[in-house]
Amino acid sequence: MRVTVLNGVNLGMLGAREPEVYGTLTHAELTQRIQAWAGERGQRADVRQTDCEGEYVRAIHAACGEADAVIVNPGAWTHYSWAIRDALAILPVPVVEVHLSEPLEREPWRHHSVVAEIASARFAGMGADGYRAALDWLQERAA
Ligand code: DQA
Repeated sequence: MRVTVLNGVNLGMLGAREPEVYGTLTHAELTQRIQAWAGERGQRADVRQTDCEGEYVRAIHAACGEADAVIVNPGAWTHYSWAIRDALAILPVPVVEVHLSEPLEREPWRHHSVVAEIASARFAGMGADGYRAALDWLQERAA
């Protein structure tokens, strides 16, 4: 199973970014973990991060036909990017929404997710382990 993992705006600053909220793992370390977890499950993970919304949308388009599943953490775009929501709606494969923190337990403006209605599953508030849970969920769904 080929899994595309798309991390959005500000997630490249993990490690330095509000470690009390997001932990101390850098994005490079997070990527290594996701790839190792995927490998253990017989999956192949392609992990990308961008701060550019248009690039994120293009990466979603590229996943069409390339990926068997997509895991998204769009960062703050989660809460308002209808362009990302519409791009995800094109995908013929399952989409899983992941957040390191639990937005529902934070400021009210984080409570709405425009991608939630597209996602088949959601894992939040588990730190990096949320990505592992998403890979497990995809594996079980495929079985
Ligand atoms: C986040 C939660 C969002 O509200 C926030 O804007 C982020 C990260 C998370 O992973 O917890 O950038 O998606």
